[in-house]
Amino acid sequence: MTDSRIAAESLETLRTRHSAKWRRYPEDVIPLHVAEMDYPVAEPIRQFLGNLVATSDMGYLGPLPELAPAFTAFAEKRWGWTPDTTAAKLAPDVGVATVEFLRAHNVSRVIVTSPVYVGFWHWLEELGIEIVDVPLTVDFRLDVAGIEREFARGVGHCLLCSPHNPLGRVFTREELTALAEAADRHGAVVISDEIHAPLTYPGTEFIPYLSVGEAAERTGVLVTSSSKSWNLAGLKAAFILGHGARGAELLKPLPEAMHWRSSLLGAFSMVVAFRDGAPWLDATMETLEVARDHLATELARLLPGARLEMVPEAGYLAWVDISGLNLGDRPWVKILDQGRVSVVPGTDLGPQYTQHIRINFATSPEILTEALTRIAALS
Ligand SMILES: Cc1ncc(COP(=O)(O)O)c(C=O)c1O
Repeated sequence: MTDSRIAAESLETLRTRHSAKWRRYPEDVIPLHVAEMDYPVAEPIRQFLGNLVATSDMGYLGPLPELAPAFTAFAEKRWGWTPDTTAAKLAPDVGVATVEFLRAHNVSRVIVTSPVYVGFWHWLEELGIEIVDVPLTVDFRLDVAGIEREFARGVGHCLLCSPHNPLGRVFTREELTALAEAADRHGAVVISDEIHAPLTYPGTEFIPYLSVGEAAERTGVLVTSSSKSWNLAGLKAAFILGHGARGAELLKPLPEAMHWRSSLLGAFSMVVAFRDGAPWLDATMETLEVARDHLATELARLLPGARLEMVPEAGYLAWVDISGLNLGDRPWVKILDQGRVSVVPGTDLGPQYTQHIRINFATSPEILTEALTRIAALS
């Protein structure tokens, strides 16, 4: 395999990228907001895409029998779990899969567990769905008793972020089993967004929701994609699956058009990612581990008033309490306007997080240090 060490591109090169991370703000801003990585994409995927372009092979997406064996082999090797792919459906992205699922089931209320990925809030708002927030506990565990209280009140769906964005927490088998049993007692459905799962760090075991037993199989659907872990968000492909007859029944009302609306480039890149992308992923996790340690060290050195809420067990996002920096009511505005660093405001992930920010650390140590130095100069 060609990828052995993965390093971030230079700022100069990154600034030529066309993606949201590099276009949303003026050039002098260091972007640490949206979840994109600053590393080169895996060689097998670049080669595959290069061939598609070179051979003008960019039509509509047709059948994709290659995805099920590629994802199954990945899930078996990585997580010791065999997904049931028989009822799986393709979608342009995880957001579309989730929105279409909720729309197809005429859902009116959904539980989320804040602080949680801003997309969840937007998707539910787009559908006019009432958001029922059951925040994580103070030690960032699922408040299963609180969730069950809402199930008992008739809220029939829970949108789970597993691993958790922004904390990077990987939920334990016990937590997920308790959630599945609570959902099963009330006939509720758990939509488990596991897009960050391949980015679990060595030393932590990721547990797919659908793997924890029959209660999970009766209550769960998985939504995922290779887009986050292999940095392919612009390619637009994801999928949703459920297990057995219950899974098939849950997925049946989803529109067939989701498949045809997905991108040929994205769908086949997803196959290549799950089939051939493990060496790159392993190398990237090593680079991310260094970046994660660097962030913790530099936060302590440069911003002692800030507190990393937890060392992420998965992913490259960090949830930081910056109340000790005294940057005012909307600290991210000062960080952007005066510090020239973009971060995700805590309030995007839950209205109560007025002194938190989310930082993307999938970049070089130099860029991270520069960004933190700029923030340090503000307080
Ligand atoms: C938990 C989670 N789900 C979904 C997404 C977005 O996925 P997609 O672009 O496939 O909709 C993100 C992006 O950061 C995410 O963190």
